[in-house]
Amino acid sequence: MSAVVDIGTDSARSPIRIDIEELLATRLLVQGNSGSGKSHLLRRLLEESAPIVQQVVIDPEGDFVTLAEPYGHVVIDGAAYSGGEITRLAARIREHRASVVLALDGLEIEAQMRCAALFLNALFDAPREQWFPALVIVDEAQMFAPAAAGDVTDEVRRLSLAAMTNLMCRGRKRGLAGIVATQRLAKLAKNVAAEASNFLMGRTFLDIDMARAADLLGMERRQAEQIRDLQRGHFLGLGPAISRRPVAVRIGAVRTGSRAVSHQLSPPPQLSTAEELHALLHDDPAVEEPTLFDSAPPQAFTAAPDADLLIERIAATEPGIDPEPLAPLPETAEIEAIVSEILADMALEEGCTYQPPASLFQDFTVRCRMRRVRSLPLDAVQFRRRFAMAVAGLPDPTDPDWADILRVARAVPDDLLAPFLTLARAARDAGPCPDDGELARVYGTSSPGRIRRLLDHLERSGLIVLRTDFSGRRSVMLPDLGISTAPLEG
Ligand SMILES: Nc1ncnc2c1ncn2[C@@H]1O[C@H](COP(=O)(O)OP(=O)(O)O)[C@@H](O)[C@H]1O
Ligand SMILES: [Mg+2]
Repeated sequence: MSAVVDIGTDSARSPIRIDIEELLATRLLVQGNSGSGKSHLLRRLLEESAPIVQQVVIDPEGDFVTLAEPYGHVVIDGAAYSGGEITRLAARIREHRASVVLALDGLEIEAQMRCAALFLNALFDAPREQWFPALVIVDEAQMFAPAAAGDVTDEVRRLSLAAMTNLMCRGRKRGLAGIVATQRLAKLAKNVAAEASNFLMGRTFLDIDMARAADLLGMERRQAEQIRDLQRGHFLGLGPAISRRPVAVRIGAVRTGSRAVSHQLSPPPQLSTAEELHALLHDDPAVEEPTLFDSAPPQAFTAAPDADLLIERIAATEPGIDPEPLAPLPETAEIEAIVSEILADMALEEGCTYQPPASLFQDFTVRCRMRRVRSLPLDAVQFRRRFAMAVAGLPDPTDPDWADILRVARAVPDDLLAPFLTLARAARDAGPCPDDGELARVYGTSSPGRIRRLLDHLERSGLIVLRTDFSGRRSVMLPDLGISTAPLEG
């Protein structure tokens, strides 16, 4: 089964896909003003991935309950249960891998936060044998992980923020992949936003949010303006599960509607089983535990089943989902081989040496994450030198054939390393001296003057000796190693 879903199209109408397995490991942050199409985007992602992965939706507006019928999500009306029941329900969801929507629209903000926190904590606390992969989608995430104190009590804010932080920072190991959507990046707690490696940025009006979105996308500030001009349903995407370079994506159609628009004529509740009818008629108002929402207006005539009935429903869910836990992360010993491969691939890309070091490094970090290398094996400076080696045909610095050359190369500045190693390689092989075109390519310049200055500089530093024979053919010697290229054939 393919773990890739189609979320929309780019400007050339080619499909843009999200790799769900990668998404599980690298999480997603969605930003856009109200009405920019975030919930639609989440719905598209949920609908497309429903057959392949368990889904848990924290839904403050009760928008996603419409997924229940076509996709079998169990709806939990947060207003109908006590804290203890919410915790029990969440535990069962982990056990049975049921997809659910936790609808919080019947609750006041503080109760919403408390309910979501209890629910997330219980998902998080599941025993190890239940750590199956699940997408945990939190719409309007700034409510649950606010950057600043607001109207709610400190206690509730801390509780909710801690649950969200756990989800985003430590959920991966437990199979939980946070997908958060927010109207305003500046209102979302930084540590929650920082854990996502995939971004989809929609229309954004305020400069401060636009600047942060542009930073996350690796865009220059002057390009950031385009984020303001995005149309509804259009997003800029970047990240290991989406694309290595920013792509414009127009989110595709959805099958289910949001509840808000399907409201006009509501039929009486359809009760499918006798137990449900029983539960409804015998709903005992004297429940032992208070519901989370003591100040709730009485739930007029909703058909929220009691917790035990809902648990039965959860247990009956038959996920048609691959129950394999996540593929393991590479061992430390494999990482060096992966890094070498990545560097070799990057060095083969046309025009790579003409790219600014910062964008090469960003490309490298994304490629590492795509290969499941989680903590960055090289910093920006180390990367620059390793990339130069790869450009000169040496992706693996432990290669014993290169030990002498690399010892001498320690004295060579970062920006001159690739051309120096290219000369050294030719000398070691006693091959012809590289011509100016080759040196210009590895040096990342198109100026013949810079090549002359480069050779002068290496010679003045004592790293090379240039020789021109009687027929004007150039050769280069490395005095420290006593090796020399053959003369360059004219
Ligand atoms: N890609 C899209 N294609 C068609 N309609 C869309 C698209 N994105 C959003 N819409 C519509 O625009 C409106 C606002 O979108 P919504 O997802 O609710 O925005 P947000 O959650 O960002 O406030 C909704 O009526 C939605 O159906
Ligand atoms: Mg929305």
